[in-house]
Amino acid sequence: MRILVTGGAGYIGGAVAAELVNCGHDVIVLDNLSSGHRGAVPKQATLIHADVGDRVRLGQLFAASEIDGVMHFAASIDVRESMLAPATYFRNNAVNTLNLIELMLEYGITKFLFSSTAAIYGTPSQVPITESLTLKPTNPYGESKLVVEQMLQWFGRLHGLRYASLRYFNAAGAFDGHGEDHRSESHLIPLVLEAANGKRESVSIYGTDYETHDGTCVRDYVHISDLACAHVLAFEKLGKGQEPERLVYNLGNSRGYSVREVIDVSRRVTGRKICFKEEPRRPGDPPILIASSEQIKRELGWKPKVTELELIIQSAWEWRQRNPDGYAS
Ligand SMILES: NC(=O)c1ccc[n+]([C@@H]2O[C@H](COP(=O)([O-])OP(=O)(O)OC[C@H]3O[C@@H](n4cnc5c(N)ncnc54)[C@H](O)[C@@H]3O)[C@@H](O)[C@H]2O)c1
Repeated sequence: MRILVTGGAGYIGGAVAAELVNCGHDVIVLDNLSSGHRGAVPKQATLIHADVGDRVRLGQLFAASEIDGVMHFAASIDVRESMLAPATYFRNNAVNTLNLIELMLEYGITKFLFSSTAAIYGTPSQVPITESLTLKPTNPYGESKLVVEQMLQWFGRLHGLRYASLRYFNAAGAFDGHGEDHRSESHLIPLVLEAANGKRESVSIYGTDYETHDGTCVRDYVHISDLACAHVLAFEKLGKGQEPERLVYNLGNSRGYSVREVIDVSRRVTGRKICFKEEPRRPGDPPILIASSEQIKRELGWKPKVTELELIIQSAWEWRQRNPDGYAS
């Protein structure tokens, strides 16, 4: 298949693009490089430096290349920034996605995979979180993703769009030369590893009085190679059935680790001292987010392989050591 990967110069999009290439697909990456890196795009893929909001450029692309489907990773992803600049998040994550889907349908492209997020659940009423729980985001980032999920239902029903919406918990680790290097880093594991390799003095723990076993927030980490496999499975499934397909799956490891545990495991893995600062809670941070991923396991046979936090962090650390300045190394 020829697959357009938006945001394929980013962390997850780059890794999935590499997996698609490994599986024999022809990959075109479209990325505005606002937070991605040329070095994250697999060499066998074609990179188009453009914005998802550029309807003219997208139209030219769809007219010129026979694209079988789109995987859409391009987005603004920082929860805290979304609280300060909600319009940016609704424009980039919701309006630009609407733009993309509209043009896809105009050109007869009906296979779409969407990067959704655990943030659409907000503070869940129970854990592990199943796909049927109430969706109640606590920040504009999560809301902007939920808006897209809602639009997708209608495009599926009314225009036959076949789509998969994958709700990731915390993507982590490295594989196939693809590591986590966000321009403005907000994810715990890379921040902890930067504290380990001396790129930052310490890492902040936001909130130490949550109702969790050690008072810090608990999150579910899923290895990037397992995420990549899930994308291929979901996309292949979209190509099979006769009826328009609607797939909605959580992607997590079904295990939670607290912030303190991540720091402790990182100390063991790296053998380095990692300093931390205890800070007040951040508004909107749910205490515990753990996925139930039973549905994708049952329906698509997804079997995550790198499930131990130690191995996840080990892969991230090895990548960091080879690339101390990330993709700028
Ligand atoms: N990282 C996680 O743990 C996580 C968790 C849940 C969901 N997600 C979702 O997964 C997707 C990828 O996340 P990531 O961690 O790889 O982020 P990332 O910032 O590394 O990648 C996003 C990519 O999209 C590009 N981009 C952004 N806006 C664009 C636009 N308008 N036009 C073209 N390109 C644009 C950026 O340059 C970047 O390369 C996002 O949609 C994010 O919401 C990520």
